[in-house]
Amino acid sequence: MSGNTATLTIGDKAIELPTKSGSVGPTVVDIAPLYKHTGMFTYDPGFTSTASCESQITYIDGDEGVLLYRGYPIEQLAEHGDFLETCYLLLYGELPTAAQKADFDYRVTRHTMVHEQMARFFQGFRRDAHPMAVMVASVGALSAFYHDSTDISDPHQRMISSMRLIAKMPTLAAMAYKYTIGQPFVYPQNNLDYPSNFLRMCFSVPCEDYKPNPILARALDRIFILHADHEQNASTSTVRLAGSSGANPFACIAAGIACLWGPAHGGANEAALKMLQEIGTVDRIPQYIAKAKDKNDPFRLMGFGHRVYKNYDPRAKIMQRTTHEVLNELGHKDDPLLEVALELERIALHDEYFIEKKLYPNIDFYSGITLKAMGFPTSMFTVLFALARTVGWIAQWKEMIEDPSQKIGRPRQLYTGAARRDYVSPAQRR
Ligand code: CMC
Repeated sequence: MSGNTATLTIGDKAIELPTKSGSVGPTVVDIAPLYKHTGMFTYDPGFTSTASCESQITYIDGDEGVLLYRGYPIEQLAEHGDFLETCYLLLYGELPTAAQKADFDYRVTRHTMVHEQMARFFQGFRRDAHPMAVMVASVGALSAFYHDSTDISDPHQRMISSMRLIAKMPTLAAMAYKYTIGQPFVYPQNNLDYPSNFLRMCFSVPCEDYKPNPILARALDRIFILHADHEQNASTSTVRLAGSSGANPFACIAAGIACLWGPAHGGANEAALKMLQEIGTVDRIPQYIAKAKDKNDPFRLMGFGHRVYKNYDPRAKIMQRTTHEVLNELGHKDDPLLEVALELERIALHDEYFIEKKLYPNIDFYSGITLKAMGFPTSMFTVLFALARTVGWIAQWKEMIEDPSQKIGRPRQLYTGAARRDYVSPAQRR
């Protein structure tokens, strides 16, 4: 690489490719002209060395364990900010003034109700449906209820659909939960803040109102901040790819939720808690560490490892503190799961296999224990992740739509199937 170009030599042919530098982070080689000049594609399944877009929203330094939203360290936002302020920051690029914040909070709060017909839509699901299945469907269905905000070329409609998604996700998430446990839906209450409103919609019943605990509400708000965005992860890339064809934002976010559900991504919080429950006691940890290290065993320590972080996930550190706060508040200080988690972390951090592969606890390692203590069943963990990540998905979708150079995402492939051959009638096939 020299100056602002990189030279690629293929056989006896050398071509110059432009390079681009970001404000921080690695420089990229712009390989868009490669096919025109060489007739070749690049090959990078899993995108391990490929930047799929230019973005100004979130920055991660995986080696140093740094996460910045619009330049602000996650630790500072989690300590001093609140979730709706973080939403504003991610969407508009700057922290809001007091007046902007009050206006934003007001607008989000006024969109929390969902169309009454949605309740009927829910009745079509089996009661034992996984709430993530219900979320994929109900968020996708929003486009059938809110036609007046699906024209993506209209900035006002884009703004309204963004507000609607941030505001209605807690309502839909709480409805998905209430439906699976056979309790009536609880309407949002606009005098409550965002996390308290969500807790109340989940845990209130008509015969007994739920008074949100401010310590739990603050902890939940912090969990939402930690999950709000994470640059071009699998679900965000899914949202961008779906949106690149011009699909409406409700459909795109439903696609993101579907991707998030997988255990290698957002489903890991549910899987991590199930793993801790299966391990059960500290004395059983060594056998699980051995399984995780065994090449012939597909078992992995859930909540460990990350494609980008090769250091302690900064979100996991904050999450660990939040877990202690919540357990203390609820009087679960001696939760056996926490004991197993702390010991598992301690052993893994000193084990050669994990050190060499740079496998550290990620955010999902501690979030499950915290959410379980708050009263959420494991099946709701990924739903809460989806609720919080919605703003990140929208901010990334909006950034893409507003980029004048945006075009449909259309990767190429390395084809290894049959070459051209002629059709043979069934009687002549062997
Ligand atoms: N336990 C044991 N070994 C592991 C683990 C683990 N959790 N994670 C990675 N490894 C090993 C893996 O076997 C491989 O070994 P080798 O080089 O000998 O083949 C090496 O570490 C590299 O792993 P990889 O699968 O090539 O790495 P990746 O970047 O493709 O995968 C990951 C990243 C997060 C999918 C993976 O670490 C994993 O499956 N972790 C458990 C699931 C999890 O906690 N996911 C949540 C991620 S954070 C939240 C989110 O993004 O949604």
